[in-house]
Amino acid sequence: MLSEKNKSKYKKDGYTVIPQYASASQIEILRAEAERIIDDFDMRSVSIFTTDNQTDFADQYFLESGDKIRCFFEENAFDDKQHLITDKKLSINKIGHALHDLNPVFKAFSYQRKLYDLALSVGYVNPLMIQSMYICKQPGIGGAVHAHQDSTFLYTEPKSCAGFWVALEDASIENACLWGIPGSHTQYKNDRRYLRNNDAYKTEFTGEWENWNIEDMMPIEVKAGDMVIFDGNFVHASKENLSAKSRHAYVMHLIEADAYYPKDNWLQRDPINTQSIKDCIT
Ligand code: FE2
Repeated sequence: MLSEKNKSKYKKDGYTVIPQYASASQIEILRAEAERIIDDFDMRSVSIFTTDNQTDFADQYFLESGDKIRCFFEENAFDDKQHLITDKKLSINKIGHALHDLNPVFKAFSYQRKLYDLALSVGYVNPLMIQSMYICKQPGIGGAVHAHQDSTFLYTEPKSCAGFWVALEDASIENACLWGIPGSHTQYKNDRRYLRNNDAYKTEFTGEWENWNIEDMMPIEVKAGDMVIFDGNFVHASKENLSAKSRHAYVMHLIEADAYYPKDNWLQRDPINTQSIKDCIT
């Protein structure tokens, strides 16, 4: 359960940090499993960089990933000739977006009673896990993530998305930790949405974002094992990771079961909105 101090910080600032949510052995298990997934990932199955219609293929690969386990490369992982600059395991940006349902190791970690209890503490009645991502933020080439609010990507009516982000390595300014604007979840109304066009396998944004600058944000430096819980309207970002250290994290996104989840949200699952966390706790 969330302490009263954490609860009021979450309400006031839009985020809070739970120290040592994951143990050292859990971290080791998750990291080893992610490494295995990346080892098994056959690059030839993704011809993104060898076809003429590479953008279309990339869009399709991404759009179909809501209920699959797929690997995505860092943008700067390739040279001019589209060869990997470094090892495959140091080139993957993230694995998404259904690790929590399809991979037994991530499933066991994701559906813990303590996660469910934390979700209730921040106001959920019947939380569903809609998305999970293993983020590598690779040394030297880990791409920046521009300022955004997650409810743009996981929109519900009423809004109900929140991120449960677990550091699997110490995350500091040096290796591109999260940055955010305390209070932004109430300060900035979010009308922006990230939609899919099913006919064309395309995505598009609607609405506008403010012109947030990461230099005006606050770094959220945490230790390996700490969890950052943040509201879907909390404005956050991360810089490029130019350091020699990776910054692995595992993030689970929750929504409320009774909230309406539109069919034009970019992320679709089959079947969607059926897995209540309560029913999945082992
Ligand atoms: Fe985000």
